[in-house]
Amino acid sequence: MATVTFDKATRIYPGSTKPAVDALDIEIADGEFLVLVGPSGCGKSTSLRMLAGLEDVNGGAIRIGDRDVTHLPPKDRDIAMVFQNYALYPHMTVADNMGFALKIAGVNKAEIRQKVEEAAKILDLTEYLDRKPKALSGGQRQRVAMGRAIVREPQVFLMDEPLSNLDAKLRVSTRTQIASLQRRLGITTVYVTHDQVEALTMGDRVAVLKDGLLQQVDTPRNMYDKPANLFVAGFIGSPAMNLVEVPVTDGGVKFGNSVVPVQRDALSSTTDKTVTVGVRPEHFDVAGEDSDQGLAVTVNVVEELGSDAYVYGTTTVGGEAKDLVVRVGGRNVPEKGSTLHVVPRSGETHVFSTSTGARLSD
Ligand SMILES: Nc1ncnc2c1ncn2[C@@H]1O[C@H](COP(=O)(O)OP(=O)(O)OP(=O)(O)O)[C@@H](O)[C@H]1O
Ligand SMILES: [Mg+2]
Repeated sequence: MATVTFDKATRIYPGSTKPAVDALDIEIADGEFLVLVGPSGCGKSTSLRMLAGLEDVNGGAIRIGDRDVTHLPPKDRDIAMVFQNYALYPHMTVADNMGFALKIAGVNKAEIRQKVEEAAKILDLTEYLDRKPKALSGGQRQRVAMGRAIVREPQVFLMDEPLSNLDAKLRVSTRTQIASLQRRLGITTVYVTHDQVEALTMGDRVAVLKDGLLQQVDTPRNMYDKPANLFVAGFIGSPAMNLVEVPVTDGGVKFGNSVVPVQRDALSSTTDKTVTVGVRPEHFDVAGEDSDQGLAVTVNVVEELGSDAYVYGTTTVGGEAKDLVVRVGGRNVPEKGSTLHVVPRSGETHVFSTSTGARLSD
């Protein structure tokens, strides 16, 4: 087991002037499950590949425990990787696939068998050990790929979108299995996904990347409750946080007929005339029909989910039409075309600088 440190790690691909990963700073604790998440091309795989030794590091350093591994070849780093395309050897049995790395490393047969059987037990693959991969389901194959990594008993697991070949339902069950398995084994894990739900549900902490730059690294709870900037606010959470540009007034910011209180200190750090207020769909209270509070939202579409429903509507802010999403109770669903008066719940609003995107509220 070991800690993992990205110390201003930078990757500039040949022929490019802009870093694909720019001075990445993350300290990952021993046994932690850290998820790297962000949109396509933000540098997730590059970060992971630098840690694996598959990509040169052009600046900064990478450490595993106390060892500086920045320039070590992959085989000397004591890591095991699970990729999206975890191509299993089709002509080998599950057991041989799982034990292959140990065989190459010259481990004796009895010891390989013992490790493979242990891993198979953990992964619920015991009855499939003699089958060939083609006789397995997608989820079982994915577990064999995990098994290949587990038998090596590495200091660090690296996983790059290992679930993306699975259908939606299997993804959900497998992500729970991987997360609980990781906790049981206690092996430090860096996991890459572009799916923010996967990130929030699996990670002890989540690191959000954009354009090669780390935006925030935090627990899922903090990431959701206190996004550090506009990008994270819009990226984490589904349906996304409502973000509305509004004028600054005395004692706060004006949101329709409601004033969202903001500490004076926070606003003094900006010279902008407007700020961007964020409200998650579940953080609106619906006021009475003839209320003059908050914002009047015209209901366009209602998405019913049984337990609750999402109202997709339009409101007017500063003379301009603005789309909003509001979560309501499943038994209190408004009619299409009707008007809903919504008030942002106090203490559940977020205020960001419109110009820099930085969080202003605490
Ligand atoms: N071998 C390469 N040579 C040059 N540029 C590359 C190379 N690999 C990746 N890049 C560029 O580096 C940036 C980061 O790529 P990376 O593969 O790390 O993104 P990612 O976050 O993993 O995206 P995805 O979610 O699509 O897998 C992208 O702009 C990409 O085009
Ligand atoms: Mg990638």
